Amino acid sequence: MKVTVVGAGAVGATCADNIARKELATELVLLDIKEGFAEGKAQDMMQTATLLGFDTKISGSTNDYSKTANSDVVVITSGLPRKPGMTREELIGVNAGIVKGVCDNILKFSPNAIIIIISNPMDTMTYLALTSTGLPKNKIIGMGGILDSSRFKYQLSQHLNCSPSDLNAMVVGGHGDTTMIPLISKATWNSIPVTDFLNADQQAQIVKDTMVGGATLTALLGTSAWYAPGAAGAALVEAIVRDEKKLFTCCVALDGEYGQKDICLGVPVTIGKNGWEKIVDVKLTEAEQAAFNKSADAVRSMNDVLKTL
Ligand code: 2OP
Repeated sequence: MKVTVVGAGAVGATCADNIARKELATELVLLDIKEGFAEGKAQDMMQTATLLGFDTKISGSTNDYSKTANSDVVVITSGLPRKPGMTREELIGVNAGIVKGVCDNILKFSPNAIIIIISNPMDTMTYLALTSTGLPKNKIIGMGGILDSSRFKYQLSQHLNCSPSDLNAMVVGGHGDTTMIPLISKATWNSIPVTDFLNADQQAQIVKDTMVGGATLTALLGTSAWYAPGAAGAALVEAIVRDEKKLFTCCVALDGEYGQKDICLGVPVTIGKNGWEKIVDVKLTEAEQAAFNKSADAVRSMNDVLKTL
């Protein structure tokens, strides 16, 4: 398997490092526009091979997309990360042009690749990738809900004082501080509803803390987080290359599902060798469906901004 990660910044490099350690690809290419940056990070990672025991062949490239030819999976992380106080949506002016250019270049050399979008505003960048590449919709996957769901499980584990791995919880809707919807009514602690252990105030706090999980870290770090986003991207690559049929919430093209169409938004899907393979219908409460519709409206208005750029 050949995997390319575009963008050798903190998120891209962390994603590549996870891919290498798990040996998810025989060949891993890291590409960046900054002279020598991707080559340096690739060499540095290769020098951990004997220490960490992997045989993944990692190489770096400064903007030479021929090196990415015939990639099976491409992870796009390029673009500006947000600064403290910024929303992901504020990045659209700069990142849309970057992501469009990356998609065009990737397609020249890997016309059959499955593309994972991490760049923000992710829901709109996923829609841009779908519309600009013309690839089959199942090959375009936005990574947001899997990260937000992981943050949701972290928040729950802090309140329940339990192992995050014992929790099942999903976040649907947009990957925005105000557009994501942690489905606490569906969350379980090893098959027991978490609402059996949390009062209304605790549930509201967990939902609130999850929604701003990314912004909280940006305030602490001075830039966007990278460990969890990078690991989430690698988890998607793993489910694809190992054909795992994993159920994750990912940003995918909706054509009537959950009452929405002509939009890319976070819903539960199975992930396998063909990309996203099935949208799973979760029965939302009335309030959850209303929040989903509101989230869709907000993402759609961001998508409309693309037409003005
Ligand atoms: C985050 O939420 C980078 O959007 C990503 O951290």
